[in-house]
Parts: sequence; C-alpha cells; structure tokens
Amino acid sequence: MPTLTALAHAKLNLTLDVLGRRSDGYHDLRMVMTSVALADVITLETGTGDGVQASANLGFLPTGEKNLAASALLRFQEATGRDLGGAHISLEKHIPVCAGMGGGSSDAAAVLRALNDCTGAGLSLPELARVGEAVGSDVPYCVLGGTALAEGRGEVLTPLAPLPRCTVVVCKPNFSISTPELFRQIDSVRLRHHPDTDGMLAALEAGDLGGVARRVYNVFEDVLPPRLRAEVAAIRQLLVGHGALGAGMSGTGPTVFGLFDCAAGAERARRELGETYRDTFLTETV
Ligand code: C5P
Repeated sequence: MPTLTALAHAKLNLTLDVLGRRSDGYHDLRMVMTSVALADVITLETGTGDGVQASANLGFLPTGEKNLAASALLRFQEATGRDLGGAHISLEKHIPVCAGMGGGSSDAAAVLRALNDCTGAGLSLPELARVGEAVGSDVPYCVLGGTALAEGRGEVLTPLAPLPRCTVVVCKPNFSISTPELFRQIDSVRLRHHPDTDGMLAALEAGDLGGVARRVYNVFEDVLPPRLRAEVAAIRQLLVGHGALGAGMSGTGPTVFGLFDCAAGAERARRELGETYRDTFLTETV
C-alpha cells in the first residue's frame, strides 16, 4: 500500500464541565471543543511485515502499542478484520505533548481516518469514532473534528456551528499535570462555578465571537495547586492584556489559549509569552 500522509489537528476546550463520577471510574463531562490549525503530520506505511511500530521526532514518546496512533491502528484491524501486514507510523509532532490539546488522541484519529479511506473499509464517522473510544476518551471527538459538544465520557458528540474566524495564541507553561490526579481533585471538592455551556452553544449558533470568548471556562482551573493556578491566571491575564476577547485553560492543562479578533495583538502576546515559554504558538480556527 502507498505511504499516506495525514494532518492531526490540535483541539481546544472552549468549555469543560465535569458533571459527576460514574460507576465505571470515568466522569460524565460536558464540553465544547474546537479544532485549530496547529497540527502534527502523520506518515503511515503499511505492509512493512514487522509488526506495528511508531516513531517520532520526540525520542521520549512510546514506540509500541502504548503510542495512541499505534493503538488506533491495532483497534482498526480488530474492528474491520483486516490485516495490514505490519505498519510503521511516523509522527512529526508540533502539538505540545501532555498539554491538554489532544495531540495523542488527534494522532490516533488521523490514523483511523486515513486507514478507513485507503483500505476502502467504508466505516461511517460514528462507527470510526466508536473504534476510537477504546483508544481514549478524546479520540471520538478528534475523529469528527471541527466544533462540537462532547458529553458522556466524551463520546456523545453533537456537531456545532464553527468557532467564528479568529487568531488563537496557545501557550504551554513548563509544568505537567496528571489527568487522573486532577479528576481525583475534582471528586474531592464542591465546584462553585460551572461554564455557561448553553450560552456558549447559543453564541456559536449566532456566530458571536465576543459571546463565545466571554464564556471560555474550564472547571479544572479551580482545582490546580495554588502556584500552578496562579501561573495559568497570569498567562490568561497577559493574553487579555494584549487584546484577547477571552482566554482559558484547555483540557486538564496546562495549555492556556486566548481568542483574538486582532492579529497584531495576538502576535504581541505570542512574542512576550515566547520569551518565557518555548511552547507558544500563533494559530487559527480551521
Ligand atoms: O480515556 P483516557 O485514557 O483519555 O482517560 C485518561 C484518564 O482520565 C482516565 O484514566 C480517567 O482517570 C480520566 N477520565 C475520566 N473521565 C473521562 C475521561 C477521562 O475520569 N470522561
């Protein structure tokens, strides 16, 4: 089979709400997600005859089944009964890793979509998303992409009107956060604030960028350890100071993003944040 190349876009959480813990240990979520142009580049070669391997321009990523892209390929084989005769997946990472931007999930989703196209398996998007569920909670959304409401574990998806065109600055602070640990923190507190998800849905429907940006909110910011919470808040304030209409943390962090209707302000914010944080990018809606 020929070598395939696919883009895997980063996602941002415009809202993230945790509704409660479930009996299966996961949590019921309600979140509005959107894709941005920032993307990894996936190159996929099948028929290599030597098992499934992944490699990346970042040496610390897993190369076997623990790599979500490799896991997606194996799940695709199981679901469709097709044997691809070994495969090599090469990941050119641009999305920061463990950042709350769904990089690994998006890589997995890009592999699923590429395999579905090139093998002629012909799974529908909902079927492909269901294959992705076994790989990770954010993979079904990444299969769909665009702007969507994700509920349940993250797999109950409703496509939404796109985020109005804007420039986005993303900045990953230099600390990492354990996702299971943050969920444990959420279980141990009574959340005082929740995002206005319904207002967010209405603002998207109306194409109202200001209304969307004003409602960016993520409950995980409230349970960060105090020092990290202060750092996230400082980045958010810097973004707003340079003209972001709204800003917040994505996923379980630590990436903070700002939505701008003024590209010059966004560029100033990128430059200033880039002096402290290597993983700072200017991107846009897709
Ligand atoms: O599904 P995924 O492997 O991405 O989830 C990582 C971790 O995040 C889970 O082990 C769980 O602790 C937490 N999680 C959760 N509820 C969700 C999604 C993730 O508790 N809906």
